[in-house]
Amino acid sequence: PLDPPADPFDVASRAADDIARLTGVARHDLAVTLGSGWGKAADLIGETVATVPATEVTGFSRPALEGHVGTLRSVRTAAGAHVLVIGARTHYYEGHGVRRVVHSVRTAAATGAKTMVLTNGAGGIRESWAPGQPVLISDHINLTADTPLEGATFIDMTDLYAQRLRDIAREVDASLDEGVYCQFRGPQYETPAEVRMAKAIGGDIVGMSTALEAIAARQAGMEVLGFSLITNLAAGISPTPLSHAEVIEAGQAAEARISRLLADVIGRIA
Ligand code: 6GU
Repeated sequence: PLDPPADPFDVASRAADDIARLTGVARHDLAVTLGSGWGKAADLIGETVATVPATEVTGFSRPALEGHVGTLRSVRTAAGAHVLVIGARTHYYEGHGVRRVVHSVRTAAATGAKTMVLTNGAGGIRESWAPGQPVLISDHINLTADTPLEGATFIDMTDLYAQRLRDIAREVDASLDEGVYCQFRGPQYETPAEVRMAKAIGGDIVGMSTALEAIAARQAGMEVLGFSLITNLAAGISPTPLSHAEVIEAGQAAEARISRLLADVIGRIA
């Protein structure tokens, strides 16, 4: 389960060729990764032109988890923009290496996408937040001790989650709160002490995805927008122990509402 040895940008370029061939859409304008709880957005963004099993696209691995569908879809918005909907996330905790984790982002860039929208289900640290609430990601803290950048690749991370795109999201829903996302390796949820640490260093949200993908998106020159669905309060903030089933249930309960929000935001950007 090591990183594939081939050049990751060559693999992404071949994946983009596969997508063009299998969907009949040569280029995409925007890509969105649907995390846990965000799955219904695909149907609301526009008309589905083609759905492709991720296993038919170079470099994508099988879905590892319930709640993560393994398809790529090409969707056309009302205004005629082409959106690549990625329902096939590889998580860092699966142990396949960081190249596999960011392959979908590099593939999105290779299809022509200028904007990368990253969504996830995550734990909330702020007590004012309730399960089922979507929040904008304003910045991240990468606690994986890994990076998709290889060699002396010194890249600026200022305004990674673009203020311009967050402003557009707030035109759709002015009540959207925002916070700093901390990516942990997982798959275990954090201890209460780790959650206190995340809070002390400036974190508001804890999760197991997104930050590594956002770094790769910046490297590829894309503009990034990030959303977390708060599926539960983090350990020590929540009065009860966390369960994966609870996380999935919160996602399902909020899915219709937040998918509408996401589709509307994408409609404005794309
Ligand atoms: Cl509390 N932590 C992490 N790392 N990921 C989560 C979560 C918590 N809740 C949902 N996803």
